[in-house]
Amino acid sequence: MVGWILSLCRQRCYLSNEVFRIGCGYSCLHSFEKYDTYNKRKYSSSSGKVKTGILMMNMGGPSSLDEVEDFLTRLFTDKDIIPLPMQSMLGPIIAKRRSPGIVKKYSEIGGGSPILKWTNKQGELMTSLLDKISPETAPHKHYVGFRYAKPLTEDSLLEMERDGVGNAVAFSQYPQFSCSTSGSSFNALYRYYRKKEIPMKWSFIDRWSTHPKLIECFADLISKELDTVPKEDRNDVVLLFTAHALPMEAVNRGDPYPAEVAATVLGVMQKLNFSHPYRLVWQSKVGPVAWLSPQTDDAIRGYVDKGKKNIMLIPISFVNEHIETLHELDIEYGKDIAMKIGVKNFRRVPAPNDHPSFIEGLADIVKTHLNNNEICNPQLLLRCPLCTKATCHHTKAWIATLNQKNL
Ligand code: FES
Repeated sequence: MVGWILSLCRQRCYLSNEVFRIGCGYSCLHSFEKYDTYNKRKYSSSSGKVKTGILMMNMGGPSSLDEVEDFLTRLFTDKDIIPLPMQSMLGPIIAKRRSPGIVKKYSEIGGGSPILKWTNKQGELMTSLLDKISPETAPHKHYVGFRYAKPLTEDSLLEMERDGVGNAVAFSQYPQFSCSTSGSSFNALYRYYRKKEIPMKWSFIDRWSTHPKLIECFADLISKELDTVPKEDRNDVVLLFTAHALPMEAVNRGDPYPAEVAATVLGVMQKLNFSHPYRLVWQSKVGPVAWLSPQTDDAIRGYVDKGKKNIMLIPISFVNEHIETLHELDIEYGKDIAMKIGVKNFRRVPAPNDHPSFIEGLADIVKTHLNNNEICNPQLLLRCPLCTKATCHHTKAWIATLNQKNL
């Protein structure tokens, strides 16, 4: 019986190696004091109350091997991302079962996820720039709000309250919106505030898939990577844009993610003047149910079969390095597959990380958002056409109420 349920759960798991091959249970149990040790970043401005606090939201990743099981437990008990039967009981069981395999993967990439390090660096650079280009909303300070790893969203919200933040911006760090990832972060905000006084003015940045600076960043990273391919092979390179897959159940409900990923890809190719042939492919599928395809590893094999042996992978939905770039793309696809099936030149484009265009883009998105004095993009208020989830209804209704108050 338990085996059957676990197998069902595997089929229903939505997301990443960090999400799928893995597993949440208890909500935020970590004390503020514990969390504070993770938040090693500075004010962009050294004096005064925080006028604008920017909460950088993402699923996060375990910074050390000791945190893997807690991370998985939170993940597998989040109904927004992985709806399971008897979730509060099964989630922790799945997390425990999968922990050893995931610990092994993290140990192979240096003993933990670098996602917190990168997010803090991006936040520091973004707020320093914002202090210069938007003095009227300074001082700015960034906060990291992860769903499944420390610093947890709920702890960062407490810190924002302690800092006396005036304007708070919930800034999704997923450029392309999916209800299972970005949606889960916004739902966490709603759950935190639903029975509380809201002590600051909130607004929301939910998607930015075609921002010119994001496009510029990817185009520059691709161009630089192409320069490393021997001249005689350079024109033969196939660009494979790879994004985290989504189960077709979510796609068929009307999740906007596939269309927004495709928009980013098209923008980047326009910027490159369509210099090379390209495809959008999907990674990290787990279980037997239908997902977006073709899968990235199948695409690599398919092109090698067709004589295309110069392959460049571009992680188009990830803004910093983490287990799915460093392990899945570099080790599982690069070393374990590409090198064994005869790929001549295998390249993987770095994630945006601290690329100057990317940082300028983050700052510009926030500045434009604040200048517009808007609560949110109208898209955030629209549910998927076939959505029946009460959580989506409640979160969007809450945001709409804040929007009304702002009018
Ligand atoms: Fe998309 Fe509910 S699943 S709004």
